[in-house]
Amino acid sequence: MTTTASSSAEPKKNQLPPGSKSPPIFGMVQALLDQFGTLERYQRKYGEIFYAPKSSLLPPYVIFSNPQAIEQVFTANPDLFEVGKQSTLPVRVLLGEKSLVLLDGIEHKRQRKLLMPPFHGERMKSYGQAMVDITKEVISQWQVGQTICIRDYTQEISLRVILQTIFGLEGGQRYDRLKRTIVGLLDTFNSPLNSFFLFFPWLQKDVGALTPWGKFLQQKRQINEILQAECDRRRNNPDALGEDILSLLLEARYEDGQPLSDEEIRDELMTMLFAGHETTASSLAWSFYWLHRLPEVGHKFQAELDSLPQDAEFTDLAQLPYLSAVVAETLRLNPVVVFVGRQLKQPFELMGYQLEPGTSLLPSIYLTHQREDIYPEPKKFKPERFIERQFSPYEYLPFGGGNRRCLGYAFALFEMKLVLATIMSQVELELLDDRPIKFARRGFTFTPSGGVKMKVGSRK
Ligand code: HEM
Repeated sequence: MTTTASSSAEPKKNQLPPGSKSPPIFGMVQALLDQFGTLERYQRKYGEIFYAPKSSLLPPYVIFSNPQAIEQVFTANPDLFEVGKQSTLPVRVLLGEKSLVLLDGIEHKRQRKLLMPPFHGERMKSYGQAMVDITKEVISQWQVGQTICIRDYTQEISLRVILQTIFGLEGGQRYDRLKRTIVGLLDTFNSPLNSFFLFFPWLQKDVGALTPWGKFLQQKRQINEILQAECDRRRNNPDALGEDILSLLLEARYEDGQPLSDEEIRDELMTMLFAGHETTASSLAWSFYWLHRLPEVGHKFQAELDSLPQDAEFTDLAQLPYLSAVVAETLRLNPVVVFVGRQLKQPFELMGYQLEPGTSLLPSIYLTHQREDIYPEPKKFKPERFIERQFSPYEYLPFGGGNRRCLGYAFALFEMKLVLATIMSQVELELLDDRPIKFARRGFTFTPSGGVKMKVGSRK
């Protein structure tokens, strides 16, 4: 069966989208070294859809930024797609086979339904107090005049938020050990070169903890052991069950009454740890950069915060229009994830091209967010665009879309707003370096290069 849907271009039967003729490995290395420049060069050369043939590392893929094509993919029957084995190999290694990110079809739907409730509605809002308390505690260590790298602190905050809300851990030995091991593992990806071994299987040789891959596996095993021990402890001691997400997962039942297996719980915890805190930490660091790089944005932000009554609830704060626009514009201009992927199980027509089963469809978050026709002056940070108009979910997609849209998007937005408002209302910060900041790779995600150096001013 061929699936067709509306598209702007005339069908070009038996023709593939344009693309580079050099071996795909060159494109991959270029992209690993300079993801954004490479994407922009390809788009300039080939247009809003381009193709790369199959290689030893990746299936054939198309990258595109056309909102109609993105709509076609996000609204298509999810059964047309699968999570490809080849392109997701690095994710399998990091998160485990039972991670939601890697599940397909009915298994994905079932697991998502089970994981969804804590990330929405009242349950999610009940984590607001923890988000604010943790932020206050972390910034209480700052001294006036101190130089800080803001990303180190946004990471400290988002990791602690995850450990408390998801694991119910707030200090103590188990908490310290888990935190230390996770930070150690994440630091492995601090340099783009170290990230390489996630993408090239021939670098994945376990020859002891002194090699990057051996060290990575050792840390991964340690995290798994800690997570397993935490599951066992809660199972054997029902009093240890609380309001956190791990407790909810241990008590959750599928429709047939079956509980989640240990492997499922461990892999989902690992997924939430990784998907949920690096992303939020980097996005927050970008927001701090823009709020201080552009004084008029900072002043407007501050004026809106000051207008909030003393007894305002967290939910009132999260609805402030300018604060929301600053967060939205940060995620537009500085997406931490560059594209989302869906691999075809059946032939599919996209923008007039006939694509074969096995092709990976990659709607590009970055290129879509850079379209001049949707976002005039796309390289400029202009929160007003989100006040002046609404964008469709196919024009603005920092959290992906369709049946795989980020599970934690509401949680992440809520956390970003509370952390920004708490810090901006308590401390004066100053940007130490006025030069533009570039994106730097950190494993699968992107972060502001250098982490945004700032100076702590007086307390408000
Ligand atoms: C600013 C922060 C975040 C950004 C930019 C972000 C972005 C994304 C993106 C682009 C995807 C892929 C969606 C797709 O394929 O259509 C995704 C998936 C996912 N995210 Fe997030 N995310 C963030 C925070 C979080 C948080 C806080 C959590 C949970 C604690 C989380 C959990 C997940 C999970 C479990 C998935 C897989 C969903 C599935 O395959 O069904 N994310 N995220």
